[in-house]
Amino acid sequence: MTEPLRRRTTPHELRAEALRLAYDGAPVIDGLDLELPDGRITAIVGANGCGKSTLLRGLSRLLKPRSGVVLLDGAAVHSRPAREVATVIGILPQQATAPEGITVADLVGRGRYPHQGWFRRWTSTDDDVVRQALEATATADLAQRRVEELSGGQRQRVWIAMALAQDPDVLLLDEPTTFLDLAHQLDVLDLLHEQNRTRHTTVAMVLHDLNMAARYADHLVVMAAGHVLATGSPERVLTAGLVREAFGLTARIVPDPVTGSPMVIPVGRSQARQPTPRDADGPARAAVQQAT
Ligand SMILES: Nc1ncnc2c1ncn2[C@@H]1O[C@H](COP(=O)(O)OP(=O)(O)OP(=O)(O)O)[C@@H](O)[C@H]1O
Ligand SMILES: [Mg+2]
Repeated sequence: MTEPLRRRTTPHELRAEALRLAYDGAPVIDGLDLELPDGRITAIVGANGCGKSTLLRGLSRLLKPRSGVVLLDGAAVHSRPAREVATVIGILPQQATAPEGITVADLVGRGRYPHQGWFRRWTSTDDDVVRQALEATATADLAQRRVEELSGGQRQRVWIAMALAQDPDVLLLDEPTTFLDLAHQLDVLDLLHEQNRTRHTTVAMVLHDLNMAARYADHLVVMAAGHVLATGSPERVLTAGLVREAFGLTARIVPDPVTGSPMVIPVGRSQARQPTPRDADGPARAAVQQAT
């Protein structure tokens, strides 16, 4: 099999400085500074409505800042042509809508558009990249189906295939695992991890599952009310205090028995109980960090 996907060699710097993003009214994001570590996986987490999707739109050039700037390799993305930015940055929006009647193969093929041009026509490399993207997301057998006939999870995987077909150096994904069953969630996260480790694609994704974020991300960005609350490795950032601050949620943090990464065990109001002496027994329990 041919290997059309190149291994990335040029580093990219994507950073926001004093970013202010708004729709009609008051700013949703205000004075935000952020840098996505090149070649790493970043997970962006935070409560509903805190501005995660808005931030991704700003970073990907879809939403123009009211003030501040998003810099890609030192140049403001909003003053560069869309196609040029799209060859470097790919985005999977939270609510992507497909043109009516389009087939899966055609939609995934549209991922190749940024690479086309006046003199650059569709080639066998494009065919190979699209086929690989379909295979990687287990959607090859859906290729001739219409996107609107698919289940929510199938459709989500097709959008991920399109993002992969775009073959960007920086891939921004807004809740890529929503609608997916647990096995497909892991498939998608493993796929993104593979993409990152083999091709050095910089991945930044919004995730609601803190445990998956802790497992897969090298770097965590925790947002609250339009600003960045904390950044750093999941091990350093994910504490009971932080979970309380970001989500208003009481939780205990224990080591994930599979990976050792922090695992957030939420304590609902109906399950809250005082810890008993037996909770201190056993190696896993000894590591339980009490929520305070
Ligand atoms: N198109 C829009 N027009 C006006 N306000 C918007 C628009 N999109 C989002 N907002 C507002 O901006 C704020 C942040 O929304 P955003 O979608 O960025 O949150 P989020 O963190 O992605 O939330 P979720 O976890 O629910 O996806 C919310 O108050 C929302 O109502
Ligand atoms: Mg969102």
